[in-house]
Amino acid sequence: MRYRSQKVAYLFFATSILLLSLQILYGFIMGFAHVGYDNLHEVVPFNAARATHTNLLVVWLLSGFMGSAYYIIPEEAERELVSVPAAIVQWASLVVVSVTAVIGFHFNWWEGRKFLEIPRPLDYLVVVNVLLFIGNIGLTAWKGRRFTTTGMVLIAGLTSAALLYLPGMITFDSQVYDSYFRWWVVHLWVEGVWELIMGSILSFLLIKLTGVDREVIEKWLYVIVGLTFLSGILGTGHHYYWIGTPGYWKMIGGVFSGLEPLAFLGMALYGVTMSRRGGKRPENRIALAWTVGCGVMSFVGAGFLGFAHTLPQVNIYTHGTLVTAMHGHLAFWGAYAMVVLAMISFAMPELTGRKLYAGWVPEWAFWTSNIGMVGMTGAFAVAGITQVYLERKMGLDFLAVQEAISVHFIGLILAACLFTVGIGLYIWNFIQYGLPKDEAIQPGGSA
Ligand code: HEM
Ligand code: HEM
Ligand SMILES: [Fe+2]
Repeated sequence: MRYRSQKVAYLFFATSILLLSLQILYGFIMGFAHVGYDNLHEVVPFNAARATHTNLLVVWLLSGFMGSAYYIIPEEAERELVSVPAAIVQWASLVVVSVTAVIGFHFNWWEGRKFLEIPRPLDYLVVVNVLLFIGNIGLTAWKGRRFTTTGMVLIAGLTSAALLYLPGMITFDSQVYDSYFRWWVVHLWVEGVWELIMGSILSFLLIKLTGVDREVIEKWLYVIVGLTFLSGILGTGHHYYWIGTPGYWKMIGGVFSGLEPLAFLGMALYGVTMSRRGGKRPENRIALAWTVGCGVMSFVGAGFLGFAHTLPQVNIYTHGTLVTAMHGHLAFWGAYAMVVLAMISFAMPELTGRKLYAGWVPEWAFWTSNIGMVGMTGAFAVAGITQVYLERKMGLDFLAVQEAISVHFIGLILAACLFTVGIGLYIWNFIQYGLPKDEAIQPGGSA
């Protein structure tokens, strides 16, 4: 690292890792519930486990993005962060809000809107928290010595993500309007502005790790931003097929969301070609593996498996089934979990001065977690496709079908165990790095 204030990123990364572990725990609770072992039902009913699992996911990813920004922005702007105490207060309030929300879910304090379950009063705290964050990194960039495309796209992505949280806070009497605007948050985050955050973090990592010129890498970033906006905005229509909106959304949603995989194909090619073009073989090879892996797996999970159910002709059968969970897992993993884990793998040696990136632990962490997640995706796919057939084609009752497919959840649990071994190794590696140190600061470090 080049600036002392970058050390604050560590707090966010450690929080990310901790919440990821908790998220996995709730995944297992649901996995076992699906095979009939819902023993915790009185304390953690399925709805509470599900809300906790998905909200913890969102918070650990946001914490990872925030940590990444606190690390990247000083380096891109070539100055210290304007306020480290403000960053620490912001971190603490993020922890308080998420802990309160998670505890609340267990006491039935929640809004039953998938992914936006956090109760309204806490939403206002989220807004204050995010304003503090955007203010801090925004001012740092503003007062910086240089403006880079990477830094600007990152800030644009984070700021638009903050603004897009607001439509989810409006109250409607109509279920249709509520659902319509819920997608402005959920869809326009993951298939819109989060792609800018992902693209810019990948750009930063590729610049640092491959030795390819910044100009070349940032030109690609423009292409990705362009493709994202071209397809992702009107692509929101793929959620409007069956919620009571006008029929033209079937055409608009189908066509534009059908183009969305292009942006993810761009990310995959970005990673693969830049890492091949760079003459430099980075010392920290595992960080490059996570970076390139992120591009590739996001294309598979979001691009390929997203396309698999995005056309209205298909979605009319798959909507609201485990086919969605199949896609949701690999898309979130490939795109956003992997980009955060790539950034942490890159930043830890820089923050601590310890080079623990070689050896079997980080390598096995990468492979077992990825193979485990592909296995989980396969289990959800088999369960989901069978569900579609039995429920939607044969007309069997929902619960009868759930029983028939429960065997596939044993497969899910086995694959999830492999995945968890991988994450366990990653966490072990993270802990071994220890805390960030001032001695690790290299003022003249690479640009
Ligand atoms: C040990 C690991 C995990 C297990 C056993 C697990 C299991 C599950 C189960 C059973 C569900 C509910 C499916 C249903 O509605 O019946 C679920 C939902 C979900 N999980 Fe996981 N999960 C795990 C890890 C993860 C990870 C690492 C991610 C993200 C990278 C993730 C993302 C999601 C998402 C996005 C949903 C909601 C899907 C939807 O909207 O349909 N899960 N998970
Ligand atoms: C990294 C990017 C992506 C992530 C993290 C992601 C994640 C998810 C999640 C969690 C859901 C369930 C949402 C809910 O019901 O509240 C979902 C739904 C959906 N996604 Fe994605 N997705 C991504 C990209 C894509 C792309 C590129 C496409 C199309 C090519 C796509 C097509 C769909 C469709 C059609 C649904 C609705 C499924 C249904 O009818 O229930 N997704 N996605
Ligand atoms: Fe979407």
